[in-house]
Amino acid sequence: MKAAELLVRCLENEGVRFLFGIPGEENLDIMHALHESTIRFITTRHEQAAAFMADVYGRLTGRAGVCLATLGPGATNLVTGVADANVDNVPVVWECNCLEEVCGACTIVINGRVRQACTALVDQLLAEKPGEIELRPMTKFPVLRDLMVDRWRIFVALEKIRAWLPVNSYYHMGPGQRQSQDTQQMAYLYSKCMSCGCCLEACPQFLKIELHRKEGETEIEFHAREREVIDRSFMGAHAVAQVELFNSNPIGGMNTAERLDALVSEGGIQTCGNAQNCVKVCPKQIPLTTAIAHAGRSATLHTLKKWFDR
Ligand code: SF4
Ligand code: SF4
Ligand code: FES
Repeated sequence: MKAAELLVRCLENEGVRFLFGIPGEENLDIMHALHESTIRFITTRHEQAAAFMADVYGRLTGRAGVCLATLGPGATNLVTGVADANVDNVPVVWECNCLEEVCGACTIVINGRVRQACTALVDQLLAEKPGEIELRPMTKFPVLRDLMVDRWRIFVALEKIRAWLPVNSYYHMGPGQRQSQDTQQMAYLYSKCMSCGCCLEACPQFLKIELHRKEGETEIEFHAREREVIDRSFMGAHAVAQVELFNSNPIGGMNTAERLDALVSEGGIQTCGNAQNCVKVCPKQIPLTTAIAHAGRSATLHTLKKWFDR
């Protein structure tokens, strides 16, 4: 059975009767699978209309309204309808996938190994373990449904270490400072991170956080409490590597001190036990242990400097 057929079978099992969207090269297999199914595909003139139709269908029937688009602008055109549903408090199940090991959204545990589903070839998996393929969701993140987990925590860690460049202007700022070849090569390696979570799934220091809403606690209060706990828990190897990436950039380097402060705060690099599992499972072969060693040295120097500067 093809993945597209499985997807359509899953939608049927969920009681989906209509699918709104635009066919294209990227979803042709799904179109073929829909031919054999009970689901009716309704073609729209624009992806935005598909998202609005799914939204309204969901509101009127109480069932899941499903919309489909292709890559790039096809997917971004869905955003207005999805955002509209979101602001109107219509529950949205939203995920987009690249199908080429770039977005990290399809990360699951296949036959006991964490990896991207989109690049896992069925023939190879069956050769390794004839007769069956075992699929499980990642164990370190809250399961949203079936194999899909909530990877929000990965992005909270990136926010904590300020994984961005503080460029905030609309005028041409010139070519910027040059980087050496060595720095560029190192930065390229770290820039390949797709926030997939494989390194965190394999890390013994990165533990699952399971919180439940207390009686009388509002959603906002619960979210704030959850955020606090996440901020105090281990940030993970991916965040440490991004500290290296952004500190090596001439503009990003302006926030080096803040990043290193975040790195040595609670849940920071000192929590790493140097088990080196992370580097073994990273699908992008990012030298995570090198990043941890280098960032650890920078953090120690930064802390000592702050101590002597008092
Ligand atoms: S080296 Fe550190 S971050 Fe990597 S798996 Fe081990 S404890 Fe986790
Ligand atoms: S460092 Fe590697 S394993 Fe970790 S999130 Fe990035 S790409 Fe995934
Ligand atoms: S779908 Fe994006 S990594 Fe697999």
